[in-house]
Amino acid sequence: MHRSPEVIGGYMPENTGSLGSLQVRLTRTVHSAGCAAKLSPGNLSRALCGLPVKKDPNLLVGLDKPDDAGVYKLSDQIAIIQTVDFFPPIVDDPYLFGQIAATNALSDIYAMGGKPITAMNVVGFPSEKLPLDILRQILKGGLDKVHEADAVLVGGHTIDDVELKYGLSVTGIIHPKKIITNSTAQPGDKLILTKLIGTGVITTALKAGKVSQKSISAVIKSMSFLNREASLIIQKTGVNACTDVTGFSLIGHSYIMAVNSDVSIIIDHKAVPYFPKAQLLVREGFIPGGTYNNRKFYSPYITVREQVTTEALNLLFDPQTSGGLLISVSHKKAPLVLSRLKANGIKQARIIGEVVRKQPARIIVI
Ligand code: CO
Ligand code: CO
Ligand code: CO
Repeated sequence: MHRSPEVIGGYMPENTGSLGSLQVRLTRTVHSAGCAAKLSPGNLSRALCGLPVKKDPNLLVGLDKPDDAGVYKLSDQIAIIQTVDFFPPIVDDPYLFGQIAATNALSDIYAMGGKPITAMNVVGFPSEKLPLDILRQILKGGLDKVHEADAVLVGGHTIDDVELKYGLSVTGIIHPKKIITNSTAQPGDKLILTKLIGTGVITTALKAGKVSQKSISAVIKSMSFLNREASLIIQKTGVNACTDVTGFSLIGHSYIMAVNSDVSIIIDHKAVPYFPKAQLLVREGFIPGGTYNNRKFYSPYITVREQVTTEALNLLFDPQTSGGLLISVSHKKAPLVLSRLKANGIKQARIIGEVVRKQPARIIVI
């Protein structure tokens, strides 16, 4: 039976005019984009619930306190950090998609305070729908980021798939005593966020063709910016806890930090830095499905002050792809961390809230 490409893949090859070549809009070939494609947090916890995971004294960070990556001690001097992240295309350019997916995968190593060492490609590729050159460009983008991170690519695994997916499994190293987890935030800490919020909203509008490729350049630049520098700064300065903000949103990842640390967190929505068009686009209704999943799952645990609008809240629930680090640091050291971030090119970093003693609500949005 013959079906048109649109019916099979939901995409239309487009003539780019100036180049005169056929170009595929990668984001139109898939049903959801980037970290917004994550299984909802509710479904994930139901699937994991009660599975008999083996205990091991060398497993320093595992599934019992979900963190950015797992950490396994090899000796008193060295532990390995392992993580894997892959997702459908979030932008149309294959090379940039590769860069973004790799940056996002490397980020979990940086959030733990580690150094990435090796990486492996994880690929699902619809070989009947897309030309192989697209795969080559994706892999090139990923490889360039792996090299920028001073890691090496050691292999990978590719399957012929209905929809395109790409990412990396990354292994890093760390001293077992220097792991920065998401479970040691202390009351009195300030929370610093190192990247702007709104990648979900803007890439959803992009997919709908409502923002020009040009106007999302700031978002692409942010999503392909390694969290390495920020990680080196927090390793050097010493902080209490860290995570990176990805698919579960700013509120979701703050919530996980609050629960794991047995504290509550106050987020000042006016202090959160957003991409310039994010507030406008969220008002126009470009809200990724992941926002609703996040909202539904985390709402019972949060208190929202009445001055916070629905639009503002939707951005705080916006699933981020390759988001920034969320750093919990003592109020004494917070200005130093902030000034070091800004001096190293991370000018958008802001203090967005604080950690308080555990309250009935884990997250309080003011
Ligand atoms: Co993470
Ligand atoms: Co991850
Ligand atoms: Co294999």
